[in-house]
Amino acid sequence: MRVTLRIMRFDPEKDSKPHFEEYQAEVEPTDRVLDALNYVKWHIDGTLTYRRSCAHGVCGSDAMLINGRNRLACRELIKNLSQPITIEPIRGLPVIKDLVVDMEPFFAGYRAVKPYLINDEPVPDGRERLQSPEERERFDDTTRCILCACCTTSCPIFWGDEGYIGPAAFVNAHRFIFDSRDRGAAERLEILGGHEGVYRCRTVFNCTDACPRDIKVTRAIQEIKRAIALGGP
Ligand code: SF4
Ligand code: SF4
Ligand code: FES
Repeated sequence: MRVTLRIMRFDPEKDSKPHFEEYQAEVEPTDRVLDALNYVKWHIDGTLTYRRSCAHGVCGSDAMLINGRNRLACRELIKNLSQPITIEPIRGLPVIKDLVVDMEPFFAGYRAVKPYLINDEPVPDGRERLQSPEERERFDDTTRCILCACCTTSCPIFWGDEGYIGPAAFVNAHRFIFDSRDRGAAERLEILGGHEGVYRCRTVFNCTDACPRDIKVTRAIQEIKRAIALGGP
């Protein structure tokens, strides 16, 4: 079948501002938006620029605004979309070229919450730190984040303030705060309770709706707020 794509284009060497261009792509209904973008790049205009890697919803690199919603291009089936299919870069981050944005403000929020295990205590008996299935279950949902930025770049607070730590970083903070082997909860909760932290969230649920991994982002944020109020996880 033939589909029409309306793609936001921006070349910093030629354009003063972004503009839409239309392309016709030959695809199967069961192809993904990424296949249609590849068709345009490989057969019509090789200058079209976008990030992608795994093509299987795992690496998180091809988040974009597809028909007005944040989605991974490699997961969106053509047959489920109305035409023309409008494709824009994710919002709230500076556009470098076409659909490629500067992810640095997003990763600054991620780094701010210390997204790694903190525990200076010696390993008991020189073996691994043990954890029960129930303790593991507490943060199981938030281990599944692929850092695609669909959540943070759908959040109206982030659009207005790049310094907002943002839902993706909250999810990754949650993954360690509620890990029984970690000892860094207090320092993370102090950061998350600060000016750019969880209390700026207005619980609009954009983030949960946008997550391609169906992570319960808003629930993770509520659990962090409760941990701050109770003085620990
Ligand atoms: S629930 Fe909070 S973090 Fe999520 S999109 Fe809304 S304001 Fe942003
Ligand atoms: S929480 Fe979901 S939407 Fe947000 S970065 Fe992780 S995988 Fe992407
Ligand atoms: S290309 Fe890796 S998630 Fe889409």
